[in-house]
Amino acid sequence: MKISIFEDYDQLSIHVAEALLKVVLEKPDAVLCLATGETPIGTYAQVVEQARVGEVDFSKVRFVALDEWVGVPPENSGSCHFFLHKHLFEPLSINPKQVYLFDGMAKNIENECRLMDDHIAKLGGIDFMIVGIGMNGHIGFNEPGIPEDRYAHVVDLDEMTQSVGQKYFEQETILKQGITLGMQHLMEAKSVMVIANGSKKSAIVAQAIEAPISTQLPASLLRKHRDSMFFIDAAAASRLSKIKP
Ligand code: F6R
Repeated sequence: MKISIFEDYDQLSIHVAEALLKVVLEKPDAVLCLATGETPIGTYAQVVEQARVGEVDFSKVRFVALDEWVGVPPENSGSCHFFLHKHLFEPLSINPKQVYLFDGMAKNIENECRLMDDHIAKLGGIDFMIVGIGMNGHIGFNEPGIPEDRYAHVVDLDEMTQSVGQKYFEQETILKQGITLGMQHLMEAKSVMVIANGSKKSAIVAQAIEAPISTQLPASLLRKHRDSMFFIDAAAASRLSKIKP
């Protein structure tokens, strides 16, 4: 596992975007899985900017969802679907055929998981993932205690995820369940980058990197991945005991 620490959020965003653009330059039809949330907003703005100046062609890239809130429709601005369209797919003029997301409103939500598993298998697996880390150490909606060998699954959200998740919504929203790729998808992805910024993430980042690897701390499982990276800013790195920013 590689750890890179950057001066601040802007530098972090620039370097994460650079890594993503490199993947697409090297493999124009790469399969990407990109997190939603506050952390990657700066990265995606950088990516869109670079694509605008014509540096990288996204017309062959395939995108798959990381997760979605169950019961939240795509037109709700707090949904992962809405976020990805707003910050990436619309500004990059991505063809809908390039995108496969979870439908949080699906009647048969278990079937939605199997469809995603099949889709990823047909694509030949995921090349590159950018994931955030939750305040409880979750990755996607892989909450503490989740078995490591899961593919896509429906999950009862941790209380912390239910309350922290309100920040994405304009009005209070019931967030009881999520649908997510599983840790097995993460372990099978060719490369996974965990990103974090700000002092509020420093305690959980220190645990993910330095505490014993445990399913109670899903982010720590990524230390077993053959090509995982933690890209974090100095504030998020401030409680690491072994590495000083
Ligand atoms: C979002 C996701 C979540 C977030 C995590 C951090 O697609 O999968 O795991 O990445 O909760 O969220 P922020 O970036 O808002 O702190």
